[in-house]
Amino acid sequence: MQTRILSADADGYAAAAGIWRAGGLVAFPTETVYGLGADARDDMAVARIFEAKARPRFNPLIVHVDSVAAAQAHVAWSDAAEVVARAFWPGPLTLVLPLRDGSGLSPLVTADLPTLAVRVPGHPVARDLLAAFGGPVAAPSANPSGRISPTAAAHVLAGLGGRIEAVVDGGACPVGVESTILGLAGDPVLLRPGGVPVEVLEAALGQPVRMRAEDAGLSAPGQMRSHYAPGARVRLEARERQAGEVMLGFGAVAADLNLSPSGDLIEAAANLFHHLHALDAMGAAGIAVSPIPERGLGCAINDRLRRAAAPKG
Ligand code: TXA
Ligand code: MG
Repeated sequence: MQTRILSADADGYAAAAGIWRAGGLVAFPTETVYGLGADARDDMAVARIFEAKARPRFNPLIVHVDSVAAAQAHVAWSDAAEVVARAFWPGPLTLVLPLRDGSGLSPLVTADLPTLAVRVPGHPVARDLLAAFGGPVAAPSANPSGRISPTAAAHVLAGLGGRIEAVVDGGACPVGVESTILGLAGDPVLLRPGGVPVEVLEAALGQPVRMRAEDAGLSAPGQMRSHYAPGARVRLEARERQAGEVMLGFGAVAADLNLSPSGDLIEAAANLFHHLHALDAMGAAGIAVSPIPERGLGCAINDRLRRAAAPKG
């Protein structure tokens, strides 16, 4: 794949929006760092983000929208959210709020969590691009997993060139560090320091913000298990279903639902959460899961399946 370099003008935005509508990946500048964007409603497109970055896990992604109203369509709003959104949006602040039912977002965006990270970026190129697209864009930083976040189009190309459809070149990112992530699903908690200092947030909110290391809540094993484990017992590396089980297949196997009959790991990732929920809803005692190759997106799929299969605590 040849990664196109798009200009930061109406033609470039139209081209980028067209790529997003077609399920492709476009990196774009925000005031913090370049993001690797995809249509947040498109399971296959979001799966391709994880593939392109070679993320070993389905970490939840930030959804970028062009207005407070657009954010409100996806999350349960609150007084605290209103205060900080008025003060800091558009800008380098991400809010984690309860996900609304029927938000239409791919469950891969939230890694199937009940909360959503959302922000209205302040960079004029990001704003114009989101307006041209007219929908929610899921975007982690546009670097391969484990590498430094990109603050110029050249950094994006160095890391992801040949793996994504395009990058919109909007010059250097003015802030240069990622957005501050504020959890507002309960009492305010700082999930990641970033572009908006925590003292400034506290002053706006009129209350202290508790500190929490990035991902602490997400990586707490109990929390992971309780959220990701279906009610049914999950049996991995299964060749066929046993009595009382429904089968989640991969490849050319007989199954109740198949992650990808053709053995495509991107399609399998796109289907993973939908199929687990659907099989769990069938009420069987167990879910037997075909072996998934431990390569590419298979690593992230297996990581999540192992959590689903872990004993419930
Ligand atoms: O400045 C930024 O925030 C950049 C630009 C592109 O917007 N994006 C960015 O995304 O830094 P990423 O994927 O590299 O980092 C997103 C962080 C991750 O640490 C993830 O765990 C956290 O946001 N996150 C996303 N959804 C979450 C949720 N529902 N609850 C808690 N943390 C969440
Ligand atoms: Mg990152």
